[in-house]
Amino acid sequence: MEPFRFHLFLCTQPKPEGVVSCPSHGSLAVFEALDREIQSRGLTKEVQLTTCGCMGLCDEGPVMVVYPKGVWYRHVQASDIAEIVDSQLAREKPVDRLVWNDALAMKAMSIEHAEKFRTAMAARDKGGMLPDHLEQMIRAFQPSRCVLTALELDIFTAVGDGASAEEIGSKIDANARAVSMLLNALVSLGLLTKTGELYKNTPESERFFTQASKDNQRNGLLHTANIWHSWSTLTDAVRHGTCVPLERRDTAEWMQNFIAGMQRNAKHRAPLVVKSLGTVGIRRILDLGGGSGAYSIAFAKASPEVHCDILDLAEVVPLAWEYVKKAGVSSQISLRPGDMLHDDFGSGYDVIMLNAICHMFSEEENRNLFRRARRALAPNGRLVVQDFILNNEKTAPQQATLFALNMLVGTKSGASYSEAEYTACMQEAGFSEISRINLPGPSDLIVGRAE
Ligand SMILES: C[S@@+](CC[C@H](N)C(=O)[O-])C[C@H]1O[C@@H](n2cnc3c(N)ncnc32)[C@H](O)[C@@H]1O
Ligand code: FES
Repeated sequence: MEPFRFHLFLCTQPKPEGVVSCPSHGSLAVFEALDREIQSRGLTKEVQLTTCGCMGLCDEGPVMVVYPKGVWYRHVQASDIAEIVDSQLAREKPVDRLVWNDALAMKAMSIEHAEKFRTAMAARDKGGMLPDHLEQMIRAFQPSRCVLTALELDIFTAVGDGASAEEIGSKIDANARAVSMLLNALVSLGLLTKTGELYKNTPESERFFTQASKDNQRNGLLHTANIWHSWSTLTDAVRHGTCVPLERRDTAEWMQNFIAGMQRNAKHRAPLVVKSLGTVGIRRILDLGGGSGAYSIAFAKASPEVHCDILDLAEVVPLAWEYVKKAGVSSQISLRPGDMLHDDFGSGYDVIMLNAICHMFSEEENRNLFRRARRALAPNGRLVVQDFILNNEKTAPQQATLFALNMLVGTKSGASYSEAEYTACMQEAGFSEISRINLPGPSDLIVGRAE
């Protein structure tokens, strides 16, 4: 059975640098070209394009198989794709010069490859070598650190329409020799290109990392660069059981990047939260630790009946106000500076939101927040917690386990919590009808109703 007229399998098996593979022969560019061509010819409903692992024919790569007839292609390049789509997919006529139909040779090559691979693996294992995936995991900070430094130094903006290492070094006031080493690494990571002495941005780095672009994400990503400094204290934090003080954490710049980082995630998630909760019967919302105000803004935009109060730290309120003004909903949103752990919440709210808040606090602090939130809700009002939620063993999902450590290095007593823990805390605080709403992405909602 074949649900599509054609099903293409293209090998994109990643292999260590220096090992011959379909990606080293250009299969990733082939995939992009295929995807583009299939879309531009309106064939997406007839053609399924799937990446696949090694078929043991690496020397002949990039290798691709077209089903249902099982037509095998080798040495495919991005420049061949228009012809393949036009001939093989549109007219069902294989491109003979690229078709490989020597089944016996293919089978022999594949079996030989598998045997060589098994022998090499057995030798490595016998020699006590660290497996590749562990090597990779241990060194994973290096590419990440390169990009973060490039963002901190605003290198992609300095590259502009193209510049030499010296020109870039003088623009960002950094050492030209060191800058050229960083630029070369960024080329190897696929974030820049180099022709002669001239470095240029790729379309992606131009779009997401340069100041003039409307999709520039650098400011929000600088929060990740800041977090890197906190994570460097992980060993000490684990020893002491809490975060290690960092001077740079208490600066206005840190806070600005933090709120920009929050906005980067929240602006895409906020409409999902509004959709999940609806706006029927909601007039007054309290947004505790509202950050950039993204969730209040989304509710205000969804219904003219809604008024939101954002309570956040005094230094965050002016930052939030800028986002609220820009969104054009300032008549529906009030900002209140304060400390949610101690200040009065007010009363009569239909919804109280705790988006990405509970992970900053201990279980006891959250229980206290929930109790006070229940008193501030109108009858039948809802408490909405959005956060990374752990399984009951606290070992998954991976993002939630890593986020728990993010809180260990960044807060006094924060953590990630499980659904069972949230449910118990809400029950103790007097909430009923507690339910979990799964959202796309890494965090979910836990909603409870005030009795
Ligand atoms: C992780 S951010 C979440 C922001 C926002 N809710 C979102 O999801 O985008 C935490 C927010 O809580 C605020 N915050 C932290 N401690 C607070 C406290 N004691 N009282 C009020 N706000 C606080 C921070 O300033 C920040 O805006
Ligand atoms: S890597 Fe593609 S066939 Fe081996």
